[in-house]
Amino acid sequence: MMDFLGALARPLLLAMDPEQAHGLTIKTLKRLPLPVARPDPACLAVEAFGLKFPNPLGMAAGFDKNAEVFDQVLRLGFGFAEIGTVTPLPQPGNPRPRMFRLPTDGGVINRYGFNGEGHALVRARLPPRGGGIVGVNIGANRDATDRIADYVAGIRAFADVASYFTVNVSSPNTPGLRDLQSAAALDDLLSRVLDARNSAARHVPVLLKISPDVSLDDLDDIVRIARNRAIDGLIVSNTTVSRPAGLKNVKTARETGGLSGRPLFRLSTALLAASYLRVEKQFPLIGVGGIDSAETAWTKIGAGADLIQLYSSLVFGGIGLVGEIKRGLVARLRGGRLADFVGSRAGELAAR
Ligand code: FNR
Repeated sequence: MMDFLGALARPLLLAMDPEQAHGLTIKTLKRLPLPVARPDPACLAVEAFGLKFPNPLGMAAGFDKNAEVFDQVLRLGFGFAEIGTVTPLPQPGNPRPRMFRLPTDGGVINRYGFNGEGHALVRARLPPRGGGIVGVNIGANRDATDRIADYVAGIRAFADVASYFTVNVSSPNTPGLRDLQSAAALDDLLSRVLDARNSAARHVPVLLKISPDVSLDDLDDIVRIARNRAIDGLIVSNTTVSRPAGLKNVKTARETGGLSGRPLFRLSTALLAASYLRVEKQFPLIGVGGIDSAETAWTKIGAGADLIQLYSSLVFGGIGLVGEIKRGLVARLRGGRLADFVGSRAGELAAR
């Protein structure tokens, strides 16, 4: 039914300005009386950082920035939802237009810049956990004088309701934010964030989300610090400021911002595999970037992802993709367990 409705709506949504289409999607989802998702086959279940996921496919951050539709996202069949990025104070983000489609390339460019309603309003929408898995992706206000303090504030604000936290230091649209990935800053950030987490009443896993534009030397530092500080997981990756050769939507590709979707697949998957080889199973990885089919989802798992997320392919493919990917994974597992395939192709994919 949802697939059918989605197929009807897609041409209309694609004819609209991308940000308006997204707003309409959120509004519609809020009002749609969706049934609870059917239980997933047992072979799709994943256990990671102390949480039991019914299936490995999550909605990536940025779709539900203000926690308006996380329940509906779970009802659509996602194994988990990630809300945010949320900043302490509300902020408008960059001027419009700030989201662009590259339809021939299957890509999206965005330069939203953490527009959002801020901790207090978003927190009020989140019930104490019990339903499905809802991660909270935290960031810093553009004008913050102490950016690390903004992440600490995020941990304090959501510690009683988040299933897990994502520390997002990889958005390209807040000037200087990605500098927090450099060794000294990252160590300071993780130390303060984990102190805040450890003094909360509940244990909430903390994951770090990185940019696909880091060098392998940077990655060495990131993984060394992440392992030393014993974070719970790594998300690879956010959007890229690079523009891979061969993009067909040449004019739109010149827009400033982070590129996601199909053109990000190769870069983010190679970085995922390189991360997997360095992490040596000390914590799980979430693979995100360009997943648009069961095949690309399966490749992410082979590269080292215990869990996967997507966003951009929904813009073009619609919600039917969720069921298609899950069915494709079940077929590829042939009765085996997902965990047995995680990282099985990391060596080969890291070398690309
Ligand atoms: C994003 N993404 C993102 N990531 C994040 O950590 N915080 C955010 O607020 C956003 N916002 C956002 C907005 C839009 C319009 C897009 C397309 C993406 C990045 C997203 O979570 C994901 O990492 C990348 O988009 C790569 O996955 P896909 O889109 O290729 O499946």
